Amino acid sequence: MIDLAIDAARQAGAFLKESLGHVRAVETKEGEARNLVSDIDRESERRIIAMIRGRYPGHGILAEESGGSAATADTLWVIDPLDGTTNFLHGLPIFCVTIGIHHRGVPVAGVVYDPNLDELFTAERGSGAYLNGRRLAVSGASTLIGSLLVTGFPYDIARNPDRAVERFNAFLMEAQGIRRLGSAALDLCYVAAGRLDGFWEVNLHPWDMAAGVVLVEEAGGKVSDFAGAPTTIHQPQVLASNGRIHDAMVRVLARAGGQ
Ligand code: IPD
Ligand code: CA
Ligand code: CA
Repeated sequence: MIDLAIDAARQAGAFLKESLGHVRAVETKEGEARNLVSDIDRESERRIIAMIRGRYPGHGILAEESGGSAATADTLWVIDPLDGTTNFLHGLPIFCVTIGIHHRGVPVAGVVYDPNLDELFTAERGSGAYLNGRRLAVSGASTLIGSLLVTGFPYDIARNPDRAVERFNAFLMEAQGIRRLGSAALDLCYVAAGRLDGFWEVNLHPWDMAAGVVLVEEAGGKVSDFAGAPTTIHQPQVLASNGRIHDAMVRVLARAGGQ
């Protein structure tokens, strides 16, 4: 199955890259002026789903733009056909295709493809995480002041702030630096690759995280809720790190308040 995920992510990624600057239609979603979707998001998703359905017609699919199907199937494909839509629409080349595979509710594999850097991140539960075939390991940073962190802000921050600004400010005072790249899937892959040391975000969807959480764990990192407890991709808050700074990040989140 992972080979099909790789094939689909590569093909969809190539389509995204060649579509840069050729967007025909942009709409808002969920009544949120910042939450955009284009014809390119939809076409990328249509192509990925067609490939999966062609090979595994009985499998379940949870995809951002078309929703879910066959939730009772043992195998579920969790797809974001374009993670980083806002970047993409501005011509900023930080976006990817991300496909996670679940078996009976357990994330077992993840593939993230960044067509701009031609970087393919892959992981299968128990077999390690890889970037273009090279084994990945999280960083060795052990203090927040020595850590480069990354986060994102939800599109509905004006209506549902969930203390995102307070949490950001709290980390700003503790970390070496903070980045906001605009693709949660790449944020997680970069933690897996040791390029970044920790990531938190307050309002993600399953498709943003499904592949990336497998990458982080298989690279030796940790994924939890904001209290440090086990979580699932169906919980909107996620904390991912190299493991070494995890407790320190939990303490900062606790100080910033909220749940
Ligand atoms: C978004 C990106 C962004 C994150 C948002 C996501 P989209 O996904 O991952 O980094 O901050 O919360 O919704 O809309 O570009 O697929
Ligand atoms: Ca996304
Ligand atoms: Ca998306």
